[in-house]
Amino acid sequence: MRTQVLIVGAGPSGLLLGQLLHRAGVDTVIVERQSGAHVLSRIRAGVLEQGTVDLMDEAGVGARAHAEGLVHDGVELAVDGVRHRIDLRALTGGKTVLVYGQTEVTRDLMQARAAAGSTTLYEATDVRIEGFETEAPRAHCTVGGEPVEIAADFIAGCDGFHGICRASVPREALRVYEQVYPFSWLGLLSDTPPVSPELIYSRHARGFSLCSMRSPTRSRYYLQVPLTERVEDWSDQRFWDELRRRLDPEAAASLVTGPSLEKSVAPLRSFVAEPMRFGRLFLAGDAAHIVPPTGAKGLNLAASDVRYLSQALIEHYRERSAAGLDHYSARCLARVWKAERFSWWLTRLMHNFDQEPAFQAKLQSAELDYLLGSESAQRVLAENYVGLPT
Ligand code: APR
Ligand code: PHB
Repeated sequence: MRTQVLIVGAGPSGLLLGQLLHRAGVDTVIVERQSGAHVLSRIRAGVLEQGTVDLMDEAGVGARAHAEGLVHDGVELAVDGVRHRIDLRALTGGKTVLVYGQTEVTRDLMQARAAAGSTTLYEATDVRIEGFETEAPRAHCTVGGEPVEIAADFIAGCDGFHGICRASVPREALRVYEQVYPFSWLGLLSDTPPVSPELIYSRHARGFSLCSMRSPTRSRYYLQVPLTERVEDWSDQRFWDELRRRLDPEAAASLVTGPSLEKSVAPLRSFVAEPMRFGRLFLAGDAAHIVPPTGAKGLNLAASDVRYLSQALIEHYRERSAAGLDHYSARCLARVWKAERFSWWLTRLMHNFDQEPAFQAKLQSAELDYLLGSESAQRVLAENYVGLPT
């Protein structure tokens, strides 16, 4: 089999890249380790920057996000039981975010890819890539028991943090930057109305919590828990009781509880691998970088990588110019590091770090106090939350 761009991974990065290239007449094949149903069963964040929505429109997959997504003009920060609203729209000269789940973004992209008739090899095992340092990169995998070889002009590594693309690069060619955090997030999804019309990020002596949503009838909540916590030890009742304890009195009183549709624990990590290009292999999204979920930058960063990569590849095919491909890594990383900084900062600001010296806790309180009293500081938060320009 031969294609122009071989994409490894059918998460949002791989699917969005495939769709943008398809619209420009560039042929792609995607190989994905899991089934389509499995990809759709993963619950991830749900806040889209305007730039991400614009890119979905360019890919022709934005209609349902516009119809069903919820435009949010602000977010709330709750500190020890008192809520403060950050007016995103007023602080950024009119910018907002769109609450629309990553699962739905993925569903829309999968449907568009099926309608386009592009090839996706799901449940591909033993995926290997080679020759990306030459003019003739290739991938091998097994699909339905049969060996498959795919030759391509380029390989896009969109296979997430645990994928094989980054792992195929010689160790000495990569520089890795990493920060782990001493806690996880326990998430719960339920068909209950959100506790409040906007998201609430709460700092509390018992630990951070986040009240988010997917729609007017579906809520997503998170609790900061120790790294050792197992999801089996959290009944729905225990989750709701703990969440209620961490909320401000008004939110606690109006919280509607119900059976969970999904519960999962995820550790928090900051990670960047540099560079994002090796010969004819380009990494995009979680394959190259991870942010802690505070601030919901993961999917938005993946989308901005894909914007740069699709433009660069289209430029290569249309104009025979390598300029975009040559600048890909540096352009992405400039934006990646700003989002890394913001996600790290918001994580540090809102969580409990009770193992750290008391000095750190005092600084954290002072920073919160400053933020809540300073419009300039709130503007910095708002500008980053709605997304920095590409
Ligand atoms: N071969 C083929 N596919 C693979 C392999 C492999 N060896 N390893 C992983 N994959 C697939 C995974 O099954 C997954 O479907 O690659 C896909 C990667 O998807 P994501 O992990 O969702 O990564 P990405 O598309 O970059 O999306 C970034 O997802 O994790 C969130 O916070 C992140 O929101 C951000 C977004
Ligand atoms: C979510 O809705 O899952 C979500 C929202 C905002 C975040 C993280 C996760 O910062």
